[in-house]
Amino acid sequence: MALITKRPKGTFDIVPSEAYRWHTVEKIVSETAEQYGFREIRIPTFEDTGLFVRSVGETTDVVQKEMYTVSAGGKSNFTLRPEGTAGTMRAVLENGILNEGFPQKVYYILSCFRHENVQKGRQREFHQFGCEMVGTESPRADAEVISLAKSVLDRAGVRNIELNINSIGCPKCRAEYHKALKEFFSARKDELCHTCGERLEKNPMRILDCKSEICQEIGKDAPLIIDYLCDDCREHFEQLQKNLQVMGIEYKINPKIVRGLDYYTRTVFEFVTTDIGAQGTVCGGGRYDGLIEQLGGPKTPALGFAMGLERLIITMKNQGCDFMEEKTCDLYIASMGEAAAAKAMALTMQLRDEGFFVEYDLVERGIKPQMKYADKIGAKFVMVLGDNEIETGDARLKNMADGSQTDIKLDDSFTDNFSNALVAEMFKGLDDEMVSLFSGKE
Ligand code: HAM
Repeated sequence: MALITKRPKGTFDIVPSEAYRWHTVEKIVSETAEQYGFREIRIPTFEDTGLFVRSVGETTDVVQKEMYTVSAGGKSNFTLRPEGTAGTMRAVLENGILNEGFPQKVYYILSCFRHENVQKGRQREFHQFGCEMVGTESPRADAEVISLAKSVLDRAGVRNIELNINSIGCPKCRAEYHKALKEFFSARKDELCHTCGERLEKNPMRILDCKSEICQEIGKDAPLIIDYLCDDCREHFEQLQKNLQVMGIEYKINPKIVRGLDYYTRTVFEFVTTDIGAQGTVCGGGRYDGLIEQLGGPKTPALGFAMGLERLIITMKNQGCDFMEEKTCDLYIASMGEAAAAKAMALTMQLRDEGFFVEYDLVERGIKPQMKYADKIGAKFVMVLGDNEIETGDARLKNMADGSQTDIKLDDSFTDNFSNALVAEMFKGLDDEMVSLFSGKE
């Protein structure tokens, strides 16, 4: 097979046989978010480039090296979203959601695009589940979003994952810290990568999350922001820790977390696992109290996180966590001849209306290949219809799990009888009392 093109590097197809893993995590994340009072928001895949430059920050790796920027109609510049927070805040402002009372809580499941060096757990198109809470400065809210992320991970069954927290202060404490960093890095200015050489003047904190080995090595002994926090920021961080303790959430203070996006203030956090290789940060987030104002809105504190769904799924797979079972066909109706095929079609419609998963022959094949297909798709029951069955109105239902066969009438009783056979198969092995409890039958 000579395909004319292949998928772009760093992108993946989610094939049907893998989709159930995605359905599992999408169900867990949306149900958990909704239980915490978060409502779904859907935003465009691309935004004005300026939105990301202003919010994520012009000296970040994301903006400087990783954006997929396209021009449309030769006029404006648009960028495929590298993350979900900026677009979500733009949408919150543009749709007047701030007028609907505080706090506003939204969640999203979306694809993101970053032109990064590809490795396991690091793609160019990836998916995030994110939550954003707007309109509260309280450290209770910080603990709440962290507990939401933790609940998702717990419900996914993920273990060996560590919560790291830090505070990166407000612009007031940041000014002092920047001075200290400049002094520190200036001593080895010539060794920094080209981009960090420029960052030294504009935004020395970004040197700390540069991916180049030499910058990481030099940054190891850099001053820590946590030693430069103002009283308010320190108090906020202490309160957050008290709240986490009340919630029984274990954490580690990691003074090295600075996060790779410029909008963060005060609390930052990451959930990290060592079970999936170097790219072990499954979830990252924090406060961004200045972002809404920066985007032209009123001064409004906010915070949130995003979880990489590929990384979550890889972790779940590596740790043998459970995924929802794929739905399988309840009944395959095989048929021989036109009259039987018409009956198969009519019965299928009838059963589907009642909520059953039913298939019949769409290829006009003989009985043998139809039976093979039924087996391949894992049909629970198979029924063969031919001239004889149509004439007598009697057919046989074959249970594919144990090969047993039962008679079934093709009249008005068919749906009920099929339903009974399916329930009996589902509850095989349970005692009668349990069956009547689950099936609602006396
Ligand atoms: P982020 O740390 O850039 O934060 O990304 C969040 C998560 O997305 C990461 O922890 C990781 O699991 C996943 N991720 C990031 N880049 C890749 C990649 N190239 N391939 C696979 N997975 C990746 C943000 O995006 C912020 N918007 C999070 C946030 C929301 N902060 C406040 N609210």
